[in-house]
Amino acid sequence: MSVLTRAFSEVFSDQPYSASRNFLISGIFWLVLGTTLGLLAASLMTWPDMIRGIPQLSFGRVRPAHINMVTIGWLSMGYIGCFYYILPVLVGRKGVWNERLANITMVIWNLLVFFGVWSLLNGYTEAREYAELEAPFDIVALAGLILVGINGYMTVLSGPEKKWYVSVWYILGAMFWFPVVYIIGQRVFFAMEGLNDAIANWFYGHNILGMWFTVGGIGILYYLMPRFTGNPLYSHTLSMLGFWTIAMFYAPTGTHHILQSPVPEWLKAIAVISSVFLLVPVLTVLTNFFMTMKGKWSLAADHIPLRFALAAGVAYLLTCIQGPFQATRFINWYLHFSNWVVGHAHMALLATFSFIVFSATYYIIPKVTGRKIYSKRLAVWHFWLSLYGWIIMMLALTIAGLIQAAGWHFAIPYDQWVIEMHPYMIVRTLSGVMIVLGQILFMFNIYHTVFSKEFEPAPHSPTGIAFV
Ligand code: HEM
Repeated sequence: MSVLTRAFSEVFSDQPYSASRNFLISGIFWLVLGTTLGLLAASLMTWPDMIRGIPQLSFGRVRPAHINMVTIGWLSMGYIGCFYYILPVLVGRKGVWNERLANITMVIWNLLVFFGVWSLLNGYTEAREYAELEAPFDIVALAGLILVGINGYMTVLSGPEKKWYVSVWYILGAMFWFPVVYIIGQRVFFAMEGLNDAIANWFYGHNILGMWFTVGGIGILYYLMPRFTGNPLYSHTLSMLGFWTIAMFYAPTGTHHILQSPVPEWLKAIAVISSVFLLVPVLTVLTNFFMTMKGKWSLAADHIPLRFALAAGVAYLLTCIQGPFQATRFINWYLHFSNWVVGHAHMALLATFSFIVFSATYYIIPKVTGRKIYSKRLAVWHFWLSLYGWIIMMLALTIAGLIQAAGWHFAIPYDQWVIEMHPYMIVRTLSGVMIVLGQILFMFNIYHTVFSKEFEPAPHSPTGIAFV
């Protein structure tokens, strides 16, 4: 069989779990490209004259390209790859309802990321943060999400197991809510103007995090933690309380991104109050997470997927302390428009949600390919480079943000505080080098595991500890 025919049959395969594998390996490809674009954006902030005369590589275009590639390309594809493994396993099926349809969706999604980012780099944008893609791409993304949802729901409904474990609830919730958030926030079928548009924009901007990445990510963690530790999930009641309170409190929080704008006061009040109330679901998740670890902490010394999951849990805790804190009126007024917020965004999307997918990938790839992860050493390097890279980035952005905020509020001339921030921008760029390097090792390790002709079969290891 020629390479092309083999690639074609792999891509449109109806083999159980092939879509899970294909979504995961596509996501990792976009992760490497997306973080490289982030590194380029960071370098442009540090050395603004580094590239001249190539509009495609100017900061204003690279920034949205980076964000869309890591959110729609990496994280969303990674999540779907995990969902398409976890759902069938939990409902007692072999593979999703329609594996070929899932693989076709995967191809559509890859084309969306490729052409979407190409269009952003070429200056086609709606100029709405997180929602930059133009209308035709929105239609394709929505169609993709509906296909993902149909396959997810049909998998669960056609499975023999009728008693749903909590992860099924969370994953089905994420698959239902994200298309709804997309239709409203991206204004897919209607137009809006002025402030209404800004409100809808941030309904999308915050709920892609809340109703997609958070809900889906918790669903993945609730699946992984009992497996990694061998302990049952600490409390199903808490997990269901978390599920419904997320649905209640997340939806109206988006306006906390535009508290300094003339949005109606009642909407701002609801956004701030519900942001603080988010501590309720957060506490349910974290109690469950850390109590499920009871007596099993020592496993983390040797269990790389568990290490990623634990780091994600700690980052989630920090993100959710920082989030309500900076959503309150005075703090928000002080920190808004500063690098502090960018630090917060990376704590959520890199250190929490990406680490969840890293953890799941090291567990799922051996399950769906029957191959042991190629190199433990590379996985360990991936962990430390990503972790230290993120910590350094976070510190640099937080300090730079405080300098910047002081600069705005004490009317210090712009050129003075920009110079003060320069060393921190250099450090942030260096942290980016570490993170990108970590992701290249990750890609090499996983691709070698999946595609290499020589491989070690995955040992029997329900907890996944022997995989890496
Ligand atoms: C999986 C990894 C990553 C994810 C999920 C991610 C996500 C994001 C998000 C959501 C934003 C928007 C922040 C905001 O609106 O406040 C952003 C902005 C940005 N990211 Fe990343 N990022 C990742 C990795 C990186 C890396 C490795 C670098 C390199 C240093 C980087 C550099 C940047 C820069 C320079 C911006 C623009 C900040 C600004 O406008 O001031 N990112 N990223």
